[in-house]
Amino acid sequence: MMATEPRETGAADDVLVRVEGLHKSFGKLHVLKGVDFAVRRGEVVVVIGPSGSGKSTLLRCLNFLEEPQKGVITIGGVSVTCGGRGKAHKRAVRDVRLKCGMVFQEFNLFPHKSVTENVIEAPMLVKGLSKEAATERAFALLAKVGLSDRADYFPSQISGGQKQRVAIARALAMDPELMLFDEPTSALDPELIGEVLGVMKDLAQEGMTMIVVSHEMGFARDVADRVIFMDGGYFVEQGPPSEVFFHPREDRTRQFLRHILPEQEPEHAAELGITGEAEEGASEEEAQGEEAAEEAPAGGSPGA
Ligand SMILES: Nc1ncnc2c1ncn2[C@@H]1O[C@H](COP(=O)(O)OP(=O)(O)O)[C@@H](O)[C@H]1O
Ligand SMILES: [Mg+2]
Repeated sequence: MMATEPRETGAADDVLVRVEGLHKSFGKLHVLKGVDFAVRRGEVVVVIGPSGSGKSTLLRCLNFLEEPQKGVITIGGVSVTCGGRGKAHKRAVRDVRLKCGMVFQEFNLFPHKSVTENVIEAPMLVKGLSKEAATERAFALLAKVGLSDRADYFPSQISGGQKQRVAIARALAMDPELMLFDEPTSALDPELIGEVLGVMKDLAQEGMTMIVVSHEMGFARDVADRVIFMDGGYFVEQGPPSEVFFHPREDRTRQFLRHILPEQEPEHAAELGITGEAEEGASEEEAQGEEAAEEAPAGGSPGA
């Protein structure tokens, strides 16, 4: 499909994730309409797009929190043909899920468990690690995310940024090959966003393969190998951040960037001619009127 899609030029294991013809509907609502893509080992992919475009559904399908109706998902050499049944299918789904760690916007920590208990739970239950081994690993991971001093706290006793770092440690405790992040900083107060992005950046630099739904452009520009703009259940455009953010080829991408560029990257927005002159020159109402008019045909609000 897109020219920027990685090809299997080198060894076959260069590609960690391959998705072919992925379809997902909720009842009559067709959300993913034939998504194809591949992610190389160590690659960081940032997915952007308006609210309702299917970003979360895509991530949730990759680790089978949602079962897609159609398509083939291959992660780390394990292939699942969606819509299958039976024992072999179930085992393949389980194997794929074990390769994925996921971090959610709302943290999803167990509120009645301490930070350490949150991190050791899955390795003990799913991987059969002893409490000692799991705890030792948890301490190492909590140190990595800068939370050694919060090991015995409960989620209600720590900040949102700290909760999200626990959630990252918890996902890493399962030794995933792929990390999926669904708007990991969207629920955070602005001053707490940086600490979470910092941990994610470290992870990327260590070579973790990551698919990140996020509109944090600074992070995308510094860390992403590729940005995908998704709209209406399709990948509209993809490429390096410098291209997708600053030289978008597609009108829909440009339209969407109106909602995030002026705020986050005013200079580049101006270069692209998409800072609202409206916002600077005209009244607030006019600027809002223009936005509302743009959104109406798409039937949704801009990215959450
Ligand atoms: N479990 C579900 N049941 C029914 N509809 C859903 C479900 N999850 C998502 N949707 C719908 O699918 C569409 C895509 O949602 P989502 O993937 O969450 O978009 P995004 O993450 O890009 O905002 C939306 O219209 C949403 O309402
Ligand atoms: Mg979402």
